[in-house]
Amino acid sequence: MSKVKPTVDRWSSRWAFVLAAAGSAIGLGNIWKFPYIAGEYGGGAFVLVYLLCIAVIGVPVMMSEVLIGRRARRSPIAAFEALATDLGRTRRWRWLGLVGLSAGFLVMSFYAVIAGWALAYIPKLASGALVGANPDGVNAAFAALKADPLQLTIWSSLIFIATIAVVAAGVQAGIERSVRWFMPLMFLLLVGLVIFAAVEGDFTAAIKFLFAPNFGQLTIESVLVAMGHAFFTLSLAAGIMLMYGAYLPADTSIPRAVVSVAFFDTLVALLAGLAIFPIVFANDLAPGAGPGLIFQTLPIAFATMPGGQWVGTAFFVMLLLAAFASTISLLEVVTVHLRERLGWSRPRAALGMGFIIWIVSFGTVFSFNIGADWTVFGKTFFELIDYLASNILLPTSGLLMAVFAAWLMRRQDTAEELGLSAQQGAYRLWSLVTRWAVPLLIGCVLIGKISGTI
Ligand code: TRP
Repeated sequence: MSKVKPTVDRWSSRWAFVLAAAGSAIGLGNIWKFPYIAGEYGGGAFVLVYLLCIAVIGVPVMMSEVLIGRRARRSPIAAFEALATDLGRTRRWRWLGLVGLSAGFLVMSFYAVIAGWALAYIPKLASGALVGANPDGVNAAFAALKADPLQLTIWSSLIFIATIAVVAAGVQAGIERSVRWFMPLMFLLLVGLVIFAAVEGDFTAAIKFLFAPNFGQLTIESVLVAMGHAFFTLSLAAGIMLMYGAYLPADTSIPRAVVSVAFFDTLVALLAGLAIFPIVFANDLAPGAGPGLIFQTLPIAFATMPGGQWVGTAFFVMLLLAAFASTISLLEVVTVHLRERLGWSRPRAALGMGFIIWIVSFGTVFSFNIGADWTVFGKTFFELIDYLASNILLPTSGLLMAVFAAWLMRRQDTAEELGLSAQQGAYRLWSLVTRWAVPLLIGCVLIGKISGTI
């Protein structure tokens, strides 16, 4: 067995896990990315494929990752080392933990910068600075924010400081206490925004756009994008679900907890679409505007609609809460790793790791201004690490985690963790899908991405 001792930290209940894991999963991916890729890839048919990917790939992989975590009760690298040694396999499986951890590290370095934009938009809207602005004015405000490295640094540093403080406080006193009120508050704000959009916006057009599939618009590319996003949005394969699984009480049902997390994540993505698109359509704006959809398109509508100043503020507070629970999860895993390796206290490890990632985050900050021309393969630093983490490291690690759980681990162990018997239909279904469908589908995405089709 590994030298690293099992963690003694535990969630106080099943709900604490569901809130923390859903908090990690729900974030910029749901509110910023999902609506704009759904917009770009044609709406309904894309949404349907995305839902299928969550159910067929996302849920079984998350079950695998959480069960590996609970079985090993260690942080990712130590977990693979311990389980592999126990199974008589090579210790090199610990590298798989490192792939996941590196992906999380890189994601955190750009995620905190974008979360900083959400933070920056709160005073921008609340102060009324954008009230009555025309589209050019709104676009100029967004461009000015991105062009100013100092401003970007200040906002993202605030995100880092707050995240470090929560992670330093620990699993129950920090993470659990934060998500316990962030997530319900975020959800209430979101529901309020959907109601507002239904009253003030063009709700019918939005429903039609999101739910009426036009399969003519479906391309191979959109299928691959949907699959990749299913991974990102559920925070899979970065060791986070593994780490959160390590804190799961022994008697909690993993399948039930995982299905709840996937359900809330999907619900929030769809509700975000229903909060955004009615306003977009009512103002004759373009649903396929890309990454600027919520930072440019939406504020154009907020600038002119009745109550837009406050509705807009509520929107960005909601986005910030969602993103913050995600940055917490991203810092948690790497912090625990550092703590185990160097024997540091939790606050010291959180500060140390937070500081290193903060330094790396300058790469992303500069990608939007002075470093916009520093490109490799035509990609800026931000685009490069996003590509590396989201398109290469995460799918590779997800594929290998599924292989590890379904092919290498003993059937009786995985069945025991899932609370099923190895003969039960539900267990067989998990095993079949995780052994065959998941590696095959992820393999296709990986090859597609690397060969440059996406
Ligand atoms: N899932 C989060 C979102 O949708 C982002 C996130 C948190 C993430 N942790 C992750 C993405 C780990 C990939 C890997 O915004």
